[in-house]
Amino acid sequence: MPASDWPGILRRGRELYTRNLRPGERVYGEEVVREGSDEYRRWDPWRSKLAAYLVNGATRLPFEHPHRVLYLGAAHGTTLSHLSDLLPDSQLFAIEKSATTFGTLLGLSRRRPNLFPILADAQLPERYAADVGRVDFLYQDIAQRNQAEVFLENARSCLATAGTGLLMLKVRSVTQRKSTNAVVSETREALGQQGWRVVDQRALTPFSRDHVALLLARA
Ligand SMILES: C[S@@+](CC[C@H](N)C(=O)[O-])C[C@H]1O[C@@H](n2cnc3c(N)ncnc32)[C@H](O)[C@@H]1O
Repeated sequence: MPASDWPGILRRGRELYTRNLRPGERVYGEEVVREGSDEYRRWDPWRSKLAAYLVNGATRLPFEHPHRVLYLGAAHGTTLSHLSDLLPDSQLFAIEKSATTFGTLLGLSRRRPNLFPILADAQLPERYAADVGRVDFLYQDIAQRNQAEVFLENARSCLATAGTGLLMLKVRSVTQRKSTNAVVSETREALGQQGWRVVDQRALTPFSRDHVALLLARA
């Protein structure tokens, strides 16, 4: 299987795979394939916006060897499980406010020692900042009206100065009344005013028609 442009990720045509940290175990019914003595899990861009971001032409991974990661909106851990494969030696703190999906996350974390799920509201980073500490990468995937504000608050509380963030902006959650371009440019403006620059902007169509990915770094 050929390697890809991204360290640790294998690519076959448009399909991506991550090396399974827990060989023999699937997380969401994904296909697994063998390559030599290793097992790989297919990373489905229809189910993971981070995979869609890569498939849609990202030239680099949105992080470089992060020791610690803060993930907002982990749901059942689909994307988180692939980050767990990719970053076996990192600590991945996953915030999720739904008690229902949190149960799945807890189960996942028992099998994957690099995962630390926290049942909390991402609007209130002061509740978990002390547990999380300073992270090198902030990933946000929550459908909230004030997504930029949530990103800024979490970055302020938890992201190291040189850290980067990837905001999976759900445009229709911000407003139904404006065009995608207007929402994206207003979001960029709001982030820019707080000292953030957009390193990469990428639509996630066709995998997710309502999302635009913004890779962010401090200006
Ligand atoms: C689209 S799903 C995330 C999918 C996941 N990121 C993945 O790729 O596997 C959005 C999740 O964000 C959670 N969420 C929404 N608002 C939140 C908030 N304020 N704090 C924490 N989690 C939130 C929802 O409960 C839901 O599980």
